[in-house]
Amino acid sequence: MAILKVAILGNPVLRAATEPVKNIQAPEIQRLIDDMIETMREYRGIGLAAPQVHRSLQITVIEEEADARSSKSVSRPLTVLINPRITPVTDQMVEDWEGCLSIPDLRGKVPRYKEIEVQAHDRRGRPLHLTAGDFFARVIQHEHDHLTGTLFLDRMKSLETLTYMDEYARYWARQEDEE
Ligand code: NI
Repeated sequence: MAILKVAILGNPVLRAATEPVKNIQAPEIQRLIDDMIETMREYRGIGLAAPQVHRSLQITVIEEEADARSSKSVSRPLTVLINPRITPVTDQMVEDWEGCLSIPDLRGKVPRYKEIEVQAHDRRGRPLHLTAGDFFARVIQHEHDHLTGTLFLDRMKSLETLTYMDEYARYWARQEDEE
């Protein structure tokens, strides 16, 4: 396994179209998935999409540790979504903070569907169908966006909440905790 280099904002690979994975069982795809998992864990990300490691393929990995940073979040076991399709099951949108390993040191408030359905394949190539709500739905929508060259900045209603992490801790995190 290897820790991969993460592409950051400005790298065209983050905006490029992606291809569906045809042979999920192929050793090079299985190795890429393992490397993506290791890279996500190394940089303490909650999710990672293949374009972020310079591969224009429809693969995302998601995992949340039990002791995650936000008090709102809950532990999520490792989820690998290949060739995912998402469908909102409600019109309801929720705004909350997001960051991205490809946009280091920044956070902003992003509206996302509160509940979605996901059709995908798992890392063995088996069909995967799940319904996700709240924070898990948010992470899936964020990662899915990477597969269409979309970044969380594009989804913000305005850039007013765009915040460096130090200022987030200083001005926003405390306020959120008090709510
Ligand atoms: Ni991201």
